[in-house]
Order: sequence, then structure tokens, then C-alpha cells
Amino acid sequence: MSERILIFDTTLRDGEQSPGASLNVFEKLEIARQLAKLKVDVIEAGFPVSSPAQFDAVKRIADESEVIIAALARAKEIDIKTAFDSLRNAKKPRIHTFSSTSDIHILGKFGDAKYGESLKEKRNTILKMSYDAVAYAKTFCADVEFSAEDAGRTDIGYLCDVIETAIDAGATTVNIPDTTGYNFPSEFGSKIEELKKRVKNIHKAVISVHCHNDLGLAVANSISAVQNGARQIECTVNGIGERAGNASLEEIVMALKVRNDICGYYTQTDITEIYNTSKMVSGFTGIVVQPNKAIVGENAFAHESGIHQDGMLKNKQTYEIMTPESVGVNKTKIVLGRHSGRHGLKARLNELGYRPSEEDLQKVYDLFLELADKKKEVFDDDLRILMGDEIYREEELYELEYLHVNSGTGTIPTATVKIKSKEKEIQESCTGDGPVDASFNAIERALDFKPVVESYNVRSVTSGRQALGEAIVRIRDGENSFTGRGTSTDIIEASAKAYLQAINQFLLFSKTNLEFENDELIIKKN
Ligand code: KIV
Ligand code: ZN
Repeated sequence: MSERILIFDTTLRDGEQSPGASLNVFEKLEIARQLAKLKVDVIEAGFPVSSPAQFDAVKRIADESEVIIAALARAKEIDIKTAFDSLRNAKKPRIHTFSSTSDIHILGKFGDAKYGESLKEKRNTILKMSYDAVAYAKTFCADVEFSAEDAGRTDIGYLCDVIETAIDAGATTVNIPDTTGYNFPSEFGSKIEELKKRVKNIHKAVISVHCHNDLGLAVANSISAVQNGARQIECTVNGIGERAGNASLEEIVMALKVRNDICGYYTQTDITEIYNTSKMVSGFTGIVVQPNKAIVGENAFAHESGIHQDGMLKNKQTYEIMTPESVGVNKTKIVLGRHSGRHGLKARLNELGYRPSEEDLQKVYDLFLELADKKKEVFDDDLRILMGDEIYREEELYELEYLHVNSGTGTIPTATVKIKSKEKEIQESCTGDGPVDASFNAIERALDFKPVVESYNVRSVTSGRQALGEAIVRIRDGENSFTGRGTSTDIIEASAKAYLQAINQFLLFSKTNLEFENDELIIKKN
């Protein structure tokens, strides 16, 4: 008998924790809308207590969404209350709270004497904390998920106790994360089987799994868990997430679909939206999908060798277990040009999954005309970049008004920038080791601010010598890193824009705070 598997998408929470992925609120809203179109069952929209930007994004997604919206909270009252505050207007809110349960985590995080002397006492403290957290979350909403962080390395007897306790407290979903991606598929499957056998109230909750990909086993572990009784899988688009990422949504959904003959499970996902969703997430996060990535990589349906091509011509099934069209890959490239009108552009953007407002459409149309003037043919990937980097910009404190660079063989690279804010315009010049370095130095001099540049990458978005270049710059300040992206047919300009955007992110972050006033959570601008 075919059974439904729930897809819990955590692209906007765990996925956003990928090094270098930072999404602004507009991009998150677009992704959430696209995930709804993809028909995932749950969207985990963020970790509201962690920053005002996270709170705001979860709230705005919750305010407009029909899908279940989950918000993450540690097993702390402030986290849980903040999570619910962000979900207050959600049609279907879910609070997702978690405690660490493996000995390594317990000793590492709660080594402090106040949590008890022995490991046994510490474990009991965690049990009580987990119960209290779920019970407190239940005072706000009926749908509460509990996760046992690092369940993959948790003693199975203790894991059974924690899960039973969470269900007793009212958890309706219990999540078993392989937080460090340490398990083997057979081992992880057996854990789920054990939980089903040993936890006496397990029938009262949905078993969920959340697998990380440190050994490249996240999808295999998730499928093995399903074969042993899990009914919800947590995953991310393109498999992005902490370190090596999470189980990839598209791989899970397609594995269950293509091999329905052996597992007999199905999801309600609209698989024809997979490709657009992947492209949107990659465009907004700046995390490029590897060409050989299953389902959504550029080469996923490419047949290079003569024998394969010959086989494909005779019968596609020789080397193809699913068609590119089934996951929404459009093999005919649609090209727009200077003479394409606003309507044509709007229709194409809608087909690609974007729904800009009339005001944003006008902005993107102007940029499109500018680009079409420079490079004649505008491809889907160009449009995605225009939407990603140019349209959904947050309010920026500083804008690059002007950039002039002098560089070449035998000259000292020099850059002049004019930067505009609401209050003033600043112009500065500086030299550097190359044109990019000179531009960064000039920006630093103008703003009197010199962050640590953690990484800097440039890539070409489409093919051809007039392709758009995209630059991604990550800067760090203590524990926090901030990413900026910029695009232009001129890569020096793209780099300067990206650097300034990263600095803007940092400055905005330092200017906001979450505070409680009369028991109400507010976002304070300093
Ligand atoms: O990997 C993990 O354990 C998590 C939990 C918070 C669910 O992301
Ligand atoms: Zn995780």
C-alpha cells in the first residue's frame, strides 16, 4: 500500500546556515512562495530569536502563507515565546524546539556543575528541559515538533526516553536528526525501527528524520529511515546546509518517485517545479550547484559519450531513468532581447517562478533593457540574476554611485569611488595590488571601515564573452559573517558592488536589536 511521506523543507533555516548563504527578507519570501508552489508540506522559515532579520523574515512568511510554517527554538522560554510571536498570524503555525541528547553534546554544552555532577543527572536535566520546552510550546500552539539534536550519536535507550517524554509533553512530531552525518543507512534505519518498537506512545506522533551529509549519506539515511517507519523527511533544496549540507529535497523526492516500485511511498510534491526552485535558491544564495549534482546539475541529463548518445537516440530509456521535463528542465532555451516587451518579460519571469510586484517589474524591465543593450541575448539565468541581485535589495545605507578604475600592464592600479548615503556623498581614491583591491581600498577609505574579507569569488553567469559576471564577497566580524553579491558585465564593478553590499549587511545588523517591551517583542533600530 502506498503511504504519504511529508516533506519538511528547511532551506530557509538549516540551508541558510550554509557558509556564505545569506538571504534577505524579500528573497526568503520569494523562496517560500516557490516552495508552496512545489507543494512541500512544511516550510521551516528560520530561527526567530537569533536576529531581528530572522524574526522579521519568519513573521512575513508566516503572515502570508497557507502552508505549515515552522520556527526553530532552543528549549528555552525566550526562544519559544519569540518563535510563537513570529508565527502569531500563521494559518498553520508549528513551533520546533530541540535539546541536545548525545553524551558528547551534553558534556560539551552542559559540562557546567549547575546542571548536575554525573552524566546521569545531566541526562535527567535534559529530559526535564525537553518536557518543559514542549509543554511550554503547547501553551501557544497545538502543532509542536521536538528534535533530539545529535540523535545519530545518542545512546538508543536514552533516546527512547527523551522521545517518549517529548510525546508525553504533547509533541506531535518527533525528529531524529543525524546532526553530524555520522550514521550508515542500515544503522540509522535500525534506530527508527527500535524507536517504533520501544517507545510506547510513538503512535501519537509522526517520526521525522533530519540527516546531514558529512559522509555523503544524507539521502540514503533518510530513505532507510522511511523504510523503517519515518513519515517526515527534513531536507533542503540543492542539499545546502551546515558544513556538507542536508539531505537534498530533489534527490529524496525523485528517489521515492522513481523507485516507488520498491518502496511504495509518495510525496505530494509537484516535481515539475523542482528545477525552477533549485535555480531560484542557487541564484539567491549564490551557492552554485555542482554540474554533476543529481537531478538539478547542468550535466544531470547530458549524454556525452558516443555509445550513450547512440543509445539515447534509439530509445531514451537506455540511459535515462527519468526525463528532464519531468523535473521542469526546459531544454529549449528561451531568449529575450531588446525588442521583447514588458509583458513578454513578465510572462517569462512567472514561468521561472518569480512573481514581482508591478513596481518591481518596472525596475527589472529597466535593468533588462540596459542589459539587452549590452549583450543582445538575455537568457533565463540572466533574468534570475537580475531578480536575485538587483531587485530584492534591502534598504541600503550606502550605494555605489560611481566607480572609475585605472589599471593595466606597467601602471599602479588606482580606483576612485563615489558613495552615496541619505546624508552625504563621499568620494575617495586609492591604489591597490590590482583593480579589485584598489576598489576595495577606496571603499574602505571612504567609509573609514576595514572589515576582514573572508572570501571573494567571481563567476560568469551565462556563457559568452558578454556574460554577466557575479561577484560574492564574505566579510567577518567576530562570530558573524556577512555576504554581499553584485553583478555587472564589468567584473570590477560587480566586485565593488558586492563588497559594499556586504558592508551594508554588517552595518544594518549592528543597528538592530530584538527587545521585549510590556511582554511584546519589538525590533529596535539603534
Ligand atoms: O542538525 C540538527 O540537529 C538540527 C536540529 C536543530 C534539528 O538542525
Ligand atoms: Zn541540521
